[in-house]
Amino acid sequence: MSEPIIERILFTEDQIKQRIQELAVEITAKYAGRELKLIGVLKGSIFFLTALAAELNLRVKVDFLGISSFANKRGAPGMVRIEKDLDDSIEGEDVLLVEDIVDTGFTARYLLQNLAGRGPNSLALCTLLDRTSRRIVQVPVEHRCFEIPDRFVVGFGLDYKQLYRNLKYIAVLNLDSVN
Ligand code: IMP
Ligand code: MG
Repeated sequence: MSEPIIERILFTEDQIKQRIQELAVEITAKYAGRELKLIGVLKGSIFFLTALAAELNLRVKVDFLGISSFANKRGAPGMVRIEKDLDDSIEGEDVLLVEDIVDTGFTARYLLQNLAGRGPNSLALCTLLDRTSRRIVQVPVEHRCFEIPDRFVVGFGLDYKQLYRNLKYIAVLNLDSVN
């Protein structure tokens, strides 16, 4: 089987850095004077979360969730299960859920509902990438870096078979040669 090909770079290291800085200004202003808990979804969001956290001019805490997504018995996608839960309670806290990408929206919707049930003071969603063209369930995306076209992407946390997460840029991966 042949390796997939990196077709083109969508966002360079500099573009990502600059956009994260802009987002950090926005988030810092919104939560000014408060403490913010960033919740990262393993593993894709850790690169974005780390870069974002470093730019925030706030008192910040971080915690992580591990999930698995799978199809139900009839083959429909969108089932999500928490495999690794948060270490700490979020009751009464201002919480920002940090995602690598919101695609169909199933993952984000499930996590927002789950976290909302734990009594945070506030809860919002922040994502590196947003692919609204594939949305199946509506989710409120408060902060996002980039909207992307309907192509499979890797880099800056996003993987193909667990590879490419460490790329400093975000690229379109051509899967035609391997599928
Ligand atoms: P959703 O539940 O359909 O919104 O799925 C989002 C999850 O699917 C993300 O957290 C990613 O793990 C994965 N995903 C969706 N699109 C891509 C992509 O283009 N590259 C890598 N992972 C993706
Ligand atoms: Mg993910």
